[in-house]
Amino acid sequence: MAKRVILITGASSGMGYAATHLFAKHGWEVYAGARRVEKIPTGSRIHPLRLDVTDAASRRQFVKDALGDGLRVDVLLNNAGYGEYGPIEEVSLDKVHKQLETNLVGASELTKLVLPQMRQQRSGRIINNSSIGGDVYSPLGGWYYVTKRGLNVWSDVLDTEIRQFGLRSIIIEPGGTQSSWLDIAMDNAIHNLKPDSPYTPLAEGTRKLLSGMLKTTEASAEDLAKVFYQAATERHPKRRYYFGLTDRMLARFARNHPGVFHEGMSLIVSRLTRNK
Ligand SMILES: NC(=O)c1ccc[n+]([C@@H]2O[C@H](COP(=O)([O-])OP(=O)(O)OC[C@H]3O[C@@H](n4cnc5c(N)ncnc54)[C@H](OP(=O)(O)O)[C@@H]3O)[C@@H](O)[C@H]2O)c1
Repeated sequence: MAKRVILITGASSGMGYAATHLFAKHGWEVYAGARRVEKIPTGSRIHPLRLDVTDAASRRQFVKDALGDGLRVDVLLNNAGYGEYGPIEEVSLDKVHKQLETNLVGASELTKLVLPQMRQQRSGRIINNSSIGGDVYSPLGGWYYVTKRGLNVWSDVLDTEIRQFGLRSIIIEPGGTQSSWLDIAMDNAIHNLKPDSPYTPLAEGTRKLLSGMLKTTEASAEDLAKVFYQAATERHPKRRYYFGLTDRMLARFARNHPGVFHEGMSLIVSRLTRNK
């Protein structure tokens, strides 16, 4: 059997790190990219590469290094991402651009670089690590949720375009998962507040809300790596994957009852800010 090859972005931490290990353990050649290349796992079959998904030259070099080995590309796992949390009124335009470039545009541009090879092979999968935040939302994550909801639509459209070539584009929607994600998102929420911001109580309330939610539903990064592996190897892949029933139900509820979800979220937030 030919060697199976995966390109993974955001391989220096959390789910991307766990996925790098898991695919290598199953005998895949793993081209693993992140800015902190020194934090990417090492081992036979793992090729750590420096990658900034917001940088066009870096994206090109990453794919060139991977394709340069003359192998096929079975999967691109668009996993790199973070939460540029902060109130919409106060998040600067620079930060908005960085959020869109990292979570959405970078994934799309990398995909464009691997599709010609995949079309030639007449097989391949683009696996996009979105979030239940593609369906649900909380305050302060406005631009993060835009990127995840956008990624969902982008993936669905792409899927309709590439199925004719035997290719698929797939969305994974993790819920709260142990990683650096929450700390980074909440640090950003504080840093993005202006001095004497009227949103300070909301930022504190939202930190409490998200930390509480993540504690009750938390999956491990390894759990999600297994979901990626299922999406990469299942004979007939699905359009959406979830780790657990809670995540699936929450996303479905918000999709089917957007008004009820919105009023419920508003009520929770008003209680959190009133308690300050
Ligand atoms: N953890 C959760 O609760 C949760 C829930 C739903 C969805 N997600 C999504 O899951 C994905 C993985 O996050 P995680 O939870 O594993 O968080 P994490 O531990 O913070 O890992 C994020 C990874 O993304 C990489 N990254 C960030 N910006 C990058 C850039 N410009 N170029 C290249 N790599 C970049 C980081 O590497 P470097 O900093 O070294 O570049 C790191 O390896 C993200 O898309 C996140 O939005 C997370």
